[in-house]
Amino acid sequence: MPDLFDAAVAAQQQSYSPYSKYPVGAAIRTTSGAVFTGCNVENSAYPEGTCAEAGAIAAMVLAGERAIVEVLTVTGGETPGTPCGGCRQKLREFAGPGAIIHATTNDGAVLDISMADLLPSSFGPEFLLGERAR
Ligand code: THU
Repeated sequence: MPDLFDAAVAAQQQSYSPYSKYPVGAAIRTTSGAVFTGCNVENSAYPEGTCAEAGAIAAMVLAGERAIVEVLTVTGGETPGTPCGGCRQKLREFAGPGAIIHATTNDGAVLDISMADLLPSSFGPEFLLGERAR
């Protein structure tokens, strides 16, 4: 987990967040052990901004990987900013129920939660593709 934290902080430092002033970094570990990172990228047309998790997922898929085992996000503030609803669904596409999400802050607060608890009763690829989606 320390390596994921360092990777997420490095990504957070690249955040483009002039409007919210809330930089976020995300790091994903896959079954191969590789780590992929992303940061939030805001836009003057506000809804067009993208979350850190979305950037990390895009990097993972671009590298040919699809199986998330662990995710770490880092935000400022006293309380970890947990993944937004849209990002929970985006992560769910590639993360099994036992995947662990560590929501952290730069000051060291940590909230660990499983994918199943982060997005209960969720819809996923197996509904459309059957079990071969896993
Ligand atoms: N943000 C993320 O990057 N990930 C989340 O899961 C929650 C929110 C970003 C979006 C926006 O740039 C800023 O945090 C404030 O909402």
